[in-house]
Amino acid sequence: MYDFIDLDRIDLSAEAPSKEPERQYYFMAKLREFVAREGNRLGRKLTACVVTFGCQMNAKDSEKLSGILKKTGYVLTDDENADFVIYNTCTVRDNANQKVYGRLGVLNGYKKKNPAMKIALCGCMTQEKTVIEKLRESYPFVDLVFGTHNLFTFAELAYRANQEKKMVVDVWEGTDRIVEDLPSERKYPFKSGVNIMFGCNNFCSYCIVPYVRGRERSRDAKEILREIERLVEDGVVEVMLLGQNVNSYGKNLENGISFAQLLREVEKIEGLKRIRFMTSHPKDLSDELIQVMKESKKICRHLHLPLQSGSTKILQAMNRRYTKEQYLALAEKIRQEIPDVALTTDIIVGFPGETREDVQDTIDVIQKVRYDNAFTFIYSKRTGTPAAAMEQVPEDQVHEEFDKVLKCVQDTARMRVKRYEGQVMEALVEEINEGSNSAEALRELNAGPDEILLTGRLSNNTIVHFPGRADQVGTLVMVKLEECRGFYYLGRIVSGK
Ligand code: SAH
Ligand code: SF4
Ligand code: F3S
Repeated sequence: MYDFIDLDRIDLSAEAPSKEPERQYYFMAKLREFVAREGNRLGRKLTACVVTFGCQMNAKDSEKLSGILKKTGYVLTDDENADFVIYNTCTVRDNANQKVYGRLGVLNGYKKKNPAMKIALCGCMTQEKTVIEKLRESYPFVDLVFGTHNLFTFAELAYRANQEKKMVVDVWEGTDRIVEDLPSERKYPFKSGVNIMFGCNNFCSYCIVPYVRGRERSRDAKEILREIERLVEDGVVEVMLLGQNVNSYGKNLENGISFAQLLREVEKIEGLKRIRFMTSHPKDLSDELIQVMKESKKICRHLHLPLQSGSTKILQAMNRRYTKEQYLALAEKIRQEIPDVALTTDIIVGFPGETREDVQDTIDVIQKVRYDNAFTFIYSKRTGTPAAAMEQVPEDQVHEEFDKVLKCVQDTARMRVKRYEGQVMEALVEEINEGSNSAEALRELNAGPDEILLTGRLSNNTIVHFPGRADQVGTLVMVKLEECRGFYYLGRIVSGK
């Protein structure tokens, strides 16, 4: 797919170009030479492993890192005992950070046995100064640290880290650049995330994302469409348009189009079957967007609409810029216009100042909206955010309230998801299910001797498991939803498409 990047034609005796992405192509060629030489010395191919923490945005960034690693001759592996390991980190809640520190210790063990091993850290955590200090002090075996704004320089940094003995640290405070035409290695051949914007300007008072991902920058619509066209040519049938707040797409572009207009353009791409997007901030979800979704044949029947809290007082303290009533009215309007849409959400319990009555408001919204699924988080204090300075809720109260919210979410979702039991719906087959319960599910479904358990996703984002063949992965099939098992279905293929 990236045939336009021809590393053989690059003159390595010349100076590195200053223009991007040409500069990175040059360093890819340099790194490729190093990887080949090192492989010869060791008598084996060098391996690389990218580990992703956090959201879809990070998953997409990891594909870009993997693309460069593959292009430069590394063999990609899931095994962290590799020659080059890159942790693409998340810092949205403190437990994400703790996970990374814990696993770095394990990596150090591998490195002691393989001194040529290189360890890199990038992503949202590394944008925090305190993290860099801690790495320098307690994790000196890390070879390379870079941030979210200079991910596009990975080829150059990886080359440097392989040449220099001491820790290479290159983290930018921000950027207004978007560098196109770098390689990417997709996790799934048939579906892909597509960045439409970077950063966030909303500054919800609990959230660290605007500090580590910088200000909002939209990608040129032409570039987005070109990328999707290339992806479709390469076998992709489903794209997920990615941004922290897709509803404000285009606002910083001269002559930019709105998100709804962008969706209309994406819809026209022939061969593309499904369109998803993440995330939609309720405060600026437009009527135009609802209309486009309603009329669309390709936009999936799923809308993730983060609530965070059902209490207007807490919403205000969170700087979410909508009230409980406004949110409910919006959800109601969406349900009326697009009755088959599945609504999902994010909820935070334990935000500073939250009382038991406030949580009751959240539960009230859950019961009224009836989400198909909801991610419930315990508030995590993030240094530097306004909420960190507010009075925190006692821990035992938070846990009690969290359990209540979780139970409410699970009870309502179970009833919601079940509403399609017995119907036939289209599913995109995503993978082979090798989980511990797959043999049992196959027995229950009276699967044939040569059938295996597949996992597919409905347009409304619900998962369904059904018997089939490995070569059906990546295709759209019609599935009868035989039995709802809480958040997912067991089903049977009615016909291939
Ligand atoms: N841009 C997206 C959210 C990105 S972060 C949006 O606005 O919806 C994903 C989710 O993490 C958020 O929706 C929120 O529920 C949760 N989150 C963010 N900061 C948090 C914090 N400090 N503590 C707990 N959960 C948090
Ligand atoms: Fe964080 Fe709010 Fe931006 Fe979402 S919209 S990334 S929750 S600041
Ligand atoms: Fe985490 Fe960064 Fe995403 S903080 S949630 S990986 S934008």
